[in-house]
Amino acid sequence: MVLINPFTFKEIDPDSPFCNRQQEQRDLLGYARANANVVLFSPRRYGKTSLVKRVQKELGTQGYLTLFTDFFGITSAEEAAFRLARAFFEMTRKEENWFKKSIRLLKSFRPVLKPDDEGKLSLTVELATTKQKGLETIEEVLGSLDEFARDKKIKIQIVFDEFQEIVLLKESLSLEGIMRSHIQKQPISYFFVGSRRRLLLDMFNERKRPFFQSALNYELKALPHEELAPFLVDQFQRGKKECPLPVAEKISSRVHQHPYYAQKLSFFVFETAEKKVNESDLKPAFDLLINAEKPVFEAILQGLAPQQIVLLKALALDPSPSLFSFNYIKAHHLGSTGGIQGALKKLIQLDLIEKREKGFDVVDPLLRHWLSHQ
Ligand SMILES: Nc1ncnc2c1ncn2[C@@H]1O[C@H](COP(=O)(O)OP(=O)(O)O)[C@@H](O)[C@H]1O
Ligand SMILES: [Mg+2]
Repeated sequence: MVLINPFTFKEIDPDSPFCNRQQEQRDLLGYARANANVVLFSPRRYGKTSLVKRVQKELGTQGYLTLFTDFFGITSAEEAAFRLARAFFEMTRKEENWFKKSIRLLKSFRPVLKPDDEGKLSLTVELATTKQKGLETIEEVLGSLDEFARDKKIKIQIVFDEFQEIVLLKESLSLEGIMRSHIQKQPISYFFVGSRRRLLLDMFNERKRPFFQSALNYELKALPHEELAPFLVDQFQRGKKECPLPVAEKISSRVHQHPYYAQKLSFFVFETAEKKVNESDLKPAFDLLINAEKPVFEAILQGLAPQQIVLLKALALDPSPSLFSFNYIKAHHLGSTGGIQGALKKLIQLDLIEKREKGFDVVDPLLRHWLSHQ
């Protein structure tokens, strides 16, 4: 009998097994119903996207229209407008009247429906006018959304995933201003989701920024150990292998309850183990995991300047409260204080390190392991 590996490290669709996050789902549903805006933040691969899709699906069953768009990798305000326009039509196409209304309101874009490989109609958008540019285009899309949301019968919830990406655009401050002015008058709950926490949180918590204090800060933490370990046991069982709870607990601890790594390490354990999982399966599986992540880590280092790499490695080996002490600087060849400060700022911006109780530390537990075992 061929056994199918039950572990997945793709985004989890709303009907597949999901560990815990019950309280988070209740909270987010409550905020959505109260038309509150939320900044949902955590390091990457903690399950933010999977979670908000779940919440949106539930809202859908409660009569909400939901809009989801991802700003990852956008290069211009115009591209943001394209993505938003597409998501707008995607939201309204579920019912003909709404679809027609959105087409009427949003004049600068045309929806185009084409059958995809599976024969389903997939939606793209085209610019219907060449008159507008960048910021004007997004202004128009948001204006149409204002109009659309004015209908009291319609309840809307919106997710902007990887929202901090707009900060990286040259026209970012105007874009933030335009978005804020529309969003604040709409009777709509927005979730601003992001993995680069410093960039995202600064948008909402710096006094001079347009989005200042316009949303609740909501942190998604790693999974609770007491939930994760039994969840893994259940998943092994679903795949017809037995994993004793103490072994599942070891898997959970090994990756510090990191949701994505827990799935991926379990995936390799499942591949390595016989019918019954043994503690000795962990080591080879962990090596496979590290190997699988290596290209990702190498790419991260390639994007850094030498002094940033030196500091990152120092923190991986020796997380320390006294970063600027003579001994620490000397032991890790960190160079000048000014240089350290610059490198520190960049690493925080990239969300590679964060300040914890005891001092700075590498955010990603596996990256930390890899760096300190080189
Ligand atoms: N609650 C959960 N239960 C099980 N696995 C999860 C959970 N949350 C996240 N994961 C794992 O983490 C991966 C990344 O999830 P994703 O939603 O893409 O994270 P993010 O949007 O925070 O980067 C998923 O593919 C899955 O393997
Ligand atoms: Mg995501």
